[in-house]
Amino acid sequence: MIYLDNSASTFVKPKEVIKAVTESLIHYTANPGRSGHNASISTALKIEEARENLSNYFNNGSSNRIIFTQNCTEALNLAILGSAKQGGHVICTENEHNSVLRPLEYLRKMQIIDYSIVFQKDPKGISLDDIKEKVQQNTYMIICNHISNVNGSIAQIKEIGKFCKLNDIIFLVDGAQSGGHVEIDMKENSIDYLTIAGHKGFFAPQSIGTLIMNERHSPNPIKFGGTGTNSLELFQPDIYPERLESGTISTPLILGLDAGLNFVINNFKEITNKIDDLTTYLNFELNKLDIDCYTHPENGFGVIAFNIENVDSSEIANILNEKYGICVRGGYHCAPMKHKALGTLDKGTVRASISYFNTFSEIQKLIYAVKHIKLDLKKGFIK
Ligand code: ALA
Repeated sequence: MIYLDNSASTFVKPKEVIKAVTESLIHYTANPGRSGHNASISTALKIEEARENLSNYFNNGSSNRIIFTQNCTEALNLAILGSAKQGGHVICTENEHNSVLRPLEYLRKMQIIDYSIVFQKDPKGISLDDIKEKVQQNTYMIICNHISNVNGSIAQIKEIGKFCKLNDIIFLVDGAQSGGHVEIDMKENSIDYLTIAGHKGFFAPQSIGTLIMNERHSPNPIKFGGTGTNSLELFQPDIYPERLESGTISTPLILGLDAGLNFVINNFKEITNKIDDLTTYLNFELNKLDIDCYTHPENGFGVIAFNIENVDSSEIANILNEKYGICVRGGYHCAPMKHKALGTLDKGTVRASISYFNTFSEIQKLIYAVKHIKLDLKKGFIK
């Protein structure tokens, strides 16, 4: 089997991640932050270490403002719903995932906010000029997908962040696809909220995400419950992370994410160079086959979107799976506006997404398969 669906979840996990998860299930199984005994304290210390590592890496200014969530979707929901302002206006982009679009649409339907969607002029990605056109007097938040999970387009977050800071607009960056692929310094990019998916570029197990906040803004809680602190009070504590983190958190997943983060830090150049090389090569070869390829040649972030003739992308994904043993994702990738922008609402796109653990020969096999599917279509072997 050749796995090229790493934007859905990276398949191969580094041995360091597997070791950290296993060790946590042996040594750190007490509830962190719920009791005063040694077992609980040693688990809490490991969690604190993970928060500090994330905080240092993303430069948000405080480990207390690393909020662990079930996934990137929950982190985005917390930032969006928790910041909702009656009568306010939000801007997002064509690259947003449904985990941004659906909460925004919910808030609009409830007549709490209005929102605008920005479309990019440059196929490489969203620019500040695209965004500026939609700013209103009541715009309180700009949400920007960093790297598209559909075709790898990349937003100019530094310029957009600077603009947000100058205009006192909250800047939320969805780093689901960019985390682990590019370095993200929150201070340098003036990011207020950054959301991360552990199971993609950080090689963590599924079901661990994080909302990383700076010290300027914080959303209201959208989840309430036990925090292990102020237990006699009926209101949610004011301090972080407890204010936004109710219920028992998952030590094995957090320590898996921590190990994945360390793996990325220790191998960053090697990871990004390899993904860039494989992505650029695949893009170049697909273009030679004269098929529709929707990834900009300079966006070497491991996401290649294409279609063969006018065939439904899910059908091509099925053929790649069944006949060639290649796992890719067809369809819409939960990002409808991106497909509107690409003109692929009728058939979606085939997405091959590459990880550090893929090889040159696997990419060659995909190119061979695409070439033969195209020939089979021409000969009428595939209807
Ligand atoms: N959002 C993930 C994807 O792009 C699951 O496939």
